[in-house]
Amino acid sequence: MREAPVGVFDSGVGGLSVLAEIQRLLPNESLLYVADCGNIPYGEKAPDFIRHRCSVMAEFFQQQGAKALVLACNTATVAGVADLRRDYPTWPIVGMEPAVKPAAAATRSGVVGVLATTGTLQSAKFAALLDRFATDVQVITQPCPGLVELIENGDLHSPALRQLLARYVEPLLGAGCDTIILGCTHYPFLKPLLKQMIPDDISLIDTGAAVARQLQRLLAERELLAEGPVRAAQFWTSADPEHFRNILPILWNTAGIVRSFNK
Ligand code: DGL
Repeated sequence: MREAPVGVFDSGVGGLSVLAEIQRLLPNESLLYVADCGNIPYGEKAPDFIRHRCSVMAEFFQQQGAKALVLACNTATVAGVADLRRDYPTWPIVGMEPAVKPAAAATRSGVVGVLATTGTLQSAKFAALLDRFATDVQVITQPCPGLVELIENGDLHSPALRQLLARYVEPLLGAGCDTIILGCTHYPFLKPLLKQMIPDDISLIDTGAAVARQLQRLLAERELLAEGPVRAAQFWTSADPEHFRNILPILWNTAGIVRSFNK
């Protein structure tokens, strides 16, 4: 069981930012990654649809014998993680949410910005996060439609992307945010561009590394940490595998085997 794989999924390539953190922290784990690119963007879809996709992913990873499941997607987590935990009560499941708690602790100006999908920002889970951790700070939320689609095409710095991103970031800067939460797993790929657009003293916070640490904790508790040897990650996509193969070297450190996911 220790050598069983860990299943990781996202609506597309965004979760590769989380997969990289998992691989860095847990290099002996064998990682399976599904990109549900045929259904991108989750952020503009109804919660019921996303919950259905979450259960399709969970069934697939169960069939693959995965010892744990990681939702490398904020939008999928706010919609679907509660149902998955109900349906698979003994399976270690790691979800992710925008980093409101650390951002509220870190801000000096008292104003925090959140870039995330429409679905995440409209969810009850996000409202609960604000109620719990952000009562003493001002939180400015900014949905970012269109960004995910550009990143899916491997676009990390075109003029069109820069323009769209500027439109989303400017209101946060104007409101005095000194801490910006990247509340969608696609956005860490835009960090180099974002850093050119914001003053040096503004921090960008994402939760990829925290997800990897949580996975490590859950596996360690159950004595499920793999002992090696290091294995290459395997990939599936519900859209064109050729497109994913082309994009992989841009967003992931290496090329990889990509299969078609027809569920
Ligand atoms: N990467 C996903 C997230 O973390 C969602 C992107 C999408 O809208 O499909 O929220």
